[in-house]
Amino acid sequence: MEIFEEAQHLLPSAEAYIKQKFYGEGTGHDWFHIERVKTLALKICDQEGANPALVTLIALLHDLGDRKLHNNDDTAAPRLIGQWMRNNGASAVLTGLVIEEISLLSYKGEAVDQRPKTLEGQIVQDADRLDAMGAIGIARTFAYGGAKGRLLYHPEISPKTGMDAQAYKTETGPTVNHFYEKLLLLKDRMNTATGKKMAEGRHAVMEGFLRQFFSEWQGKK
Ligand code: ADP
Ligand code: NI
Repeated sequence: MEIFEEAQHLLPSAEAYIKQKFYGEGTGHDWFHIERVKTLALKICDQEGANPALVTLIALLHDLGDRKLHNNDDTAAPRLIGQWMRNNGASAVLTGLVIEEISLLSYKGEAVDQRPKTLEGQIVQDADRLDAMGAIGIARTFAYGGAKGRLLYHPEISPKTGMDAQAYKTETGPTVNHFYEKLLLLKDRMNTATGKKMAEGRHAVMEGFLRQFFSEWQGKK
């Protein structure tokens, strides 16, 4: 069976598995994040002419075993994705491809510009990043910070520039810093023309939010 057909066959069980596993996740990586990423990715896929079955499979599995949800353990994702795919009869070729694409998808710091190799993986990276931006991105970011017990903002703790993977992974600064360390950098790192276009509006929403946030912080508005 060729891999696109194989991916298509795996979709119902992948969706059922991920839905129950991520349903009530409390750091902004709940099932509805996965579902939004899937919807956005399919929308981009339609414009860019990639394979929708592979796009959907990568979108559904993209946060399975993510290190942020597994005490920073980078081995959890390949292990859990591999296990699920093997248990569901996926070939070694498709399993290897999905694991590799997902390992390249996650944001790893300003100094690391990593992109999936296939157009399908790149589309899911764009979709995942769009869901980190705009109104939803703002909400998810403060949900994550709250779940990790972080401050909203601290005027004396500046955002860090140029973080590498290790520095980014262990960063525990205030949540507003995350906008400068990741979220505002995303619009210039989109892979597809469709993703780039959608990122612009969401970027502007975050800029407006931050302007208002600092005015309110200083009691100006
Ligand atoms: P990625 O794998 O690219 O990080 P995810 O789907 O795992 O993408 O979601 C990342 C989201 O988690 C961020 O966009 C943000 O909302 C939240 N997040 C991650 N790290 C932090 C942080 N240090 N502070 C606040 N939010 C964070
Ligand atoms: Ni995600």
